[in-house]
Amino acid sequence: MNSVKRVAIIGAGPSGMAALRAFKSAEKSGSEIPEVVCYEKQDDWGGQWNFTWRTGTDGYGEPVHSSMYRNLWSNGPKEALEFAEYTFDEHFNRPISSYPPREVLWDYINGRAVQSGVKELVRFAHVVRRVEFDDETEQFTVTVDDLREHVTSTEVFDEVIVSTGHFSFPNVPDIAGIETFPGEVIHAHEFRGAERFAGQRLLLVGGSYSAEDIGIQSHKMGARHVTMSYRSRPQGFAWPDGVDERPQIDRIDGGVATFIDGSSGEFDAIILCTGYLHHYPFLPEHLHLRSPNNLYPGGLYRGVTWQANPHLHYLGAQDQWFTFNMFDAQAWYVRDLILGRAQLPSADERAAHMRQWADRYRGVEDDAAAVRFQADYIRDLIEQTDYPMFDLDEVVRIFLEWKADKKRNILTYRDQVYPSVMTGTMAAVHHTRWIDELDDSRERYLESQPTADRVTS
Ligand SMILES: Cc1cc2nc3c(=O)[nH]c(=O)nc-3n(C[C@H](O)[C@H](O)[C@H](O)COP(=O)(O)OP(=O)(O)OC[C@H]3O[C@@H](n4cnc5c(N)ncnc54)[C@H](O)[C@@H]3O)c2cc1C
Ligand SMILES: NC(=O)c1ccc[n+]([C@@H]2O[C@H](COP(=O)([O-])OP(=O)(O)OC[C@H]3O[C@@H](n4cnc5c(N)ncnc54)[C@H](OP(=O)(O)O)[C@@H]3O)[C@@H](O)[C@H]2O)c1
Repeated sequence: MNSVKRVAIIGAGPSGMAALRAFKSAEKSGSEIPEVVCYEKQDDWGGQWNFTWRTGTDGYGEPVHSSMYRNLWSNGPKEALEFAEYTFDEHFNRPISSYPPREVLWDYINGRAVQSGVKELVRFAHVVRRVEFDDETEQFTVTVDDLREHVTSTEVFDEVIVSTGHFSFPNVPDIAGIETFPGEVIHAHEFRGAERFAGQRLLLVGGSYSAEDIGIQSHKMGARHVTMSYRSRPQGFAWPDGVDERPQIDRIDGGVATFIDGSSGEFDAIILCTGYLHHYPFLPEHLHLRSPNNLYPGGLYRGVTWQANPHLHYLGAQDQWFTFNMFDAQAWYVRDLILGRAQLPSADERAAHMRQWADRYRGVEDDAAAVRFQADYIRDLIEQTDYPMFDLDEVVRIFLEWKADKKRNILTYRDQVYPSVMTGTMAAVHHTRWIDELDDSRERYLESQPTADRVTS
């Protein structure tokens, strides 16, 4: 091992858990590893997947982290996010469907982390307030509040891994006249369930995953009408009756929204599905990543290591086609840099590498090219480490099939199944179609013989 003695991981969501697993796996294979401390501001791990009913602030008065809602199911096939060294077969011991609800995915990531025996490395209910770097000692001072004991402490680290996610601080645009709207206006971050919008006319601002999924969830739960307003381009799905798309909002006058094509409509509630900010309130500006939600954020060598200070690393800072297995690839690489198993090139070489990938990213023109870009990015990382390489081209194929399934029918794509890239196991057709399923619990999902009154053909 090189001379690194202490590593701080900030956040124990899927990215931070990947980092913990990466160090543990090096230790299990006989390597000496540094002292690792992971700070997690919530009482449990899982990040976004650690669902909360709360909005606004949590029980400690801290900003609520998770943007997930009660009835959220995976919006991409699980075969695209499967860990290469902890498969769904290993965890569930039988095939499950391709689009599990969030409790089931939490169970999966929790199972792997528990198996790694890393929970004692996490200081739960500890929020990182400040990270400072001393140029002379080349060390970080990390200031942390223990939210239960009300104690502030500082500790010194040689390397810092930021894994706090980037879908928690809402991007809230201003819209002309919105202050005159008499109904409720919330951001997707505060959306917890669509039941209460039954019978209402909903206006969703945004043209990406949150708008799409909150839109069809609301339709499923009986909204009278759902309109999604896009800025750049329509999503273009074959929406069911009662769901439509309009271009950007020109202005709002009371309950009426007028769109830039001159059309208008009356609405009962507005949900801003306008995305999130990369926001790291504990970092000074010179260490703070600022980026739109894209596949190759500037300033990060190999998408992870801060070019201006390579002792600082970010996991999961990209927009995400791939998720859990991409976080693994990143975590394994960062671990190997820290262990000295991978060599950090000179600043000039890093800059040239970043330019090359940024140029390639500029040439990405459609979704298929974007998925391939992220697959190649992950391949490049895995090639530097001992993380098991998997068939990334097959994952790309599954992603493209997923997109085609969505185009065919946005209400049935979650009923489709794909084979595991890791084990070849074909996913099981779920006992109930997604559109008919009103119980999203893990228990209900894992029932092999659901009660007859719930099953629809
Ligand atoms: C609504 C929504 C739905 C999604 N659905 C899917 C899906 O279906 N499939 C999929 O693969 N991905 C989905 N994602 C993507 C999701 O971002 C990833 O799956 C994953 O959760 C990202 O992991 P992460 O660890 O990088 O960040 P997060 O999951 O956000 O975890 C970050 C962790 O850092 C902690 N933290 C933050 N600040 C501090 C601090 N100052 N001090 C200490 N701890 C801190 C947080 O409490 C949290 O536990 C979804 C995202 C959203 C927002
Ligand atoms: N499992 C699930 O079912 C599920 C559900 C919801 C979300 N998610 C995940 O959550 C993450 C975030 O998705 P997201 O949709 O919230 O964010 P996003 O993908 O970053 O999209 C943000 C959207 O907001 C629009 N927007 C931003 N500023 C705007 C403005 N001023 N006026 C109008 N529109 C504006 C953007 O338009 P432009 O295109 O013009 O920039 C874009 O369409 C993704 O990883 C997604 O997969 C998953």
